[in-house]
Amino acid sequence: MDHCSSGSAPVEPNTKRRDYKWALLALGLIGWLSAFIAVSILFRHNLRDLARRLSSPSTSLQSVFQVSRPVQFNGSGASGCDVEIVLMEHIFGASYGMPFVDNYEPPDCNFDTVRIDLTITSRGRQFDRLASMYLGDNEVFRTSTAEPRADGIIWTYVKDMSQYNSLWKSPQTLIFDLGNLITDVYTGSFNATLKAHFSYENNVRTADLILPISARKSTSNSASAFHLPRDNTTVMYTIPAAVSRAVVSISACGQSQEEFWWSNVFSGDTQVFDDPVYALYGYTPFREIQMYIDGVLAGLVWPFPIIFTGGLAPGLWHPIVGIDAFDLREPEVDISPFLPMIQDGEQHSFEIRVTGLDVSPDGDVSFSNTVGSYWTASGNIFLYCDSEISTTKPIVARRSERPEVEDPPPTFTVTRDIVQNKTGGNDSLSYSVSVKRYFQAKSSFYSWVQSCSFFTQGLLSQQGSKQAHTQLTTGNNTITKLGGTLASHSVAFGYPLSFNQSYGNLGDAVTVRSRMERGLHIDATGGLGLSTYTMSSGPSHIHTRQSGDAHSKYITDQSSSSWGETFEEFASNMDGQSFQRTVLASNGSLVYDTTS
Ligand SMILES: *[C@@H]1O[C@H](CO)[C@@H](O)[C@H](O)[C@H]1NC(C)=O
Ligand SMILES: *[C@@H]1O[C@H](CO)[C@@H](O)[C@H](O)[C@H]1NC(C)=O
Ligand SMILES: *[C@@H]1O[C@H](CO)[C@@H](O)[C@H](O)[C@H]1NC(C)=O
Ligand SMILES: *[C@@H]1O[C@H](CO)[C@@H](O)[C@H](O)[C@H]1NC(C)=O
Ligand SMILES: *[C@@H]1O[C@H](CO)[C@@H](O)[C@H](O)[C@H]1NC(C)=O
Ligand SMILES: *[C@@H]1O[C@H](CO)[C@@H](O)[C@H](O)[C@H]1NC(C)=O
Ligand SMILES: *[C@@H]1O[C@H](CO)[C@@H](O)[C@H](O)[C@H]1NC(C)=O
Ligand SMILES: *[C@@H]1O[C@H](CO)[C@@H](O)[C@H](O)[C@H]1NC(C)=O
Repeated sequence: MDHCSSGSAPVEPNTKRRDYKWALLALGLIGWLSAFIAVSILFRHNLRDLARRLSSPSTSLQSVFQVSRPVQFNGSGASGCDVEIVLMEHIFGASYGMPFVDNYEPPDCNFDTVRIDLTITSRGRQFDRLASMYLGDNEVFRTSTAEPRADGIIWTYVKDMSQYNSLWKSPQTLIFDLGNLITDVYTGSFNATLKAHFSYENNVRTADLILPISARKSTSNSASAFHLPRDNTTVMYTIPAAVSRAVVSISACGQSQEEFWWSNVFSGDTQVFDDPVYALYGYTPFREIQMYIDGVLAGLVWPFPIIFTGGLAPGLWHPIVGIDAFDLREPEVDISPFLPMIQDGEQHSFEIRVTGLDVSPDGDVSFSNTVGSYWTASGNIFLYCDSEISTTKPIVARRSERPEVEDPPPTFTVTRDIVQNKTGGNDSLSYSVSVKRYFQAKSSFYSWVQSCSFFTQGLLSQQGSKQAHTQLTTGNNTITKLGGTLASHSVAFGYPLSFNQSYGNLGDAVTVRSRMERGLHIDATGGLGLSTYTMSSGPSHIHTRQSGDAHSKYITDQSSSSWGETFEEFASNMDGQSFQRTVLASNGSLVYDTTS
């Protein structure tokens, strides 16, 4: 997957690390490949005819889906507001740097609940693509596409978007960015329909003001997400004195060299093998996204290892896509402890950084303060106004109070070992990284505490043609209201991931066996507004686990296949409702589904 925001030169999406292209190149099949291409050009007509027959109008498109808690897309009836607006009907063909842009006008009724329904159909061949929806300069939804098949696929994702009510209440430039490329081989365009439903449901209170931490390019009809490390992400804002709470949500995912950041090696080891089956990238498999206010660390995010539908093996993600692939969760950093410092009527800076780790030859570990190219990132500052603080201190006389920030150096432990073969070449690389981190920001009214732990172990053997990775990220973030009534809310999370891959060379083809096991675990006590992370307002428990086993065979662009089995168990308890679903897919079809 490549650029998801405009303004950059279109890049041929062939950089997917575990793509057969790498494997083919690395295995020295170039000569053979060019011979095949020459032959296949001769036969292209026939192949096209075949492709046309395969994709001739088929009445039923196969449904692909993300297992998640269903969100109802229905009216409230009683409220007097029950309006549906079609926000977009658009075909994303060759669409790099050409997002869909339209003017949004709020419906003429009093609403407090907004749900969107995104339905996409696609037919042919295509890579997975990243897509983002913006209301003006605010990125409000980040999703990715499924990889289509010759006879076509369809998916629908419904999302509660009420946390953005203050944006929905005024006219906006609606921008939907889905950069896609069409070639003779990659023929799939994405036909997308986006609807919004507005109703009044006595919903929870949501933010009064939402400021974007983005490149703010809506006036030039462009997507506003930053590319890191290329962009300077600093934005300056004056925070109104009436604000009593502030939470920053952060959207960030790796692309290109950073798409599989969770399996990256130490920067000194990217050239460890003479003739690797795929390129290795550096900065270790650890990533931290940091939120800075006036250059002071205000909080951090340890990202979920998202896997898009082309990741590891496409056969793993059809028709069940990876966890969160259709709705990339946005973790939150509560910056309320910083309010007394930034409500002095002056401008203050907000900045997002992404870092990996540098490991020196003698094993010293430090933040690299940069990463490979690239991460797509943006944030939203959710501001809640009320008189809570303003009444305790006269606004004008409020003294700027800097929060006490406790940011002890993280505990890093790394191991690394290279085993050489008989001829002295590097045969295997094993490494492990563990990080423990504590962070606290505290001022008169609030304290924000984060405590996280990360462990990963990787083994690349037989010059990288076999690899095994195990990873676990856990953490617990707590916001506590100090003084008076002590109240605290916490979000605990766990992201286990294990995958094994082995590459084989079968004469004219490269085969890959991929196995994975992963999970997403969230236990949150609830809190302010509608969380962009739990996607709920109250206590939330989300536990899901996916496992799969796939075989892929890559011959040429025209001929590759990937098939396998994927199992997913999902259980959630949110907003007082519990939901469970267990599904099993085999060779592209659903063979077991507890909800059907
Ligand atoms: C939508 O429908 C479901 C089931 O009929 C109902 O439980 C729910 O309250 C409805 N939601 C709204 C917003 O009306
Ligand atoms: C996408 O829309 C085009 C134009 O309406 C149509 O020809 C094509 O069949 C649609 N594709 C799918 C997969 O629905
Ligand atoms: C980033 O932008 C901010 C605000 O415009 C500016 O003050 C700062 O110097 C810039 N940083 C760099 C490294 O260019
Ligand atoms: C073995 O790996 C090390 C560390 O990545 C590298 O510096 C060295 O050049 C490699 N040796 C060979 C023979 O490739
Ligand atoms: C030893 O490792 C080198 C470099 O990775 C490789 O080129 C060579 O084929 C290996 N030799 C054997 C006998 O495996
Ligand atoms: C998260 O931390 C809070 C505050 O220390 C604690 O009360 C809570 O039990 C923790 N949650 C989990 C799941 O560990
Ligand atoms: C990967 O291989 C290791 C070692 O053989 C095994 O313990 C682990 O369970 C495997 N993981 C998966 C997802 O198959
Ligand atoms: C899945 O497809 C592969 C390749 O076509 C075949 O070898 C395998 O038996 C199939 N598995 C099942 C469970 O149908």
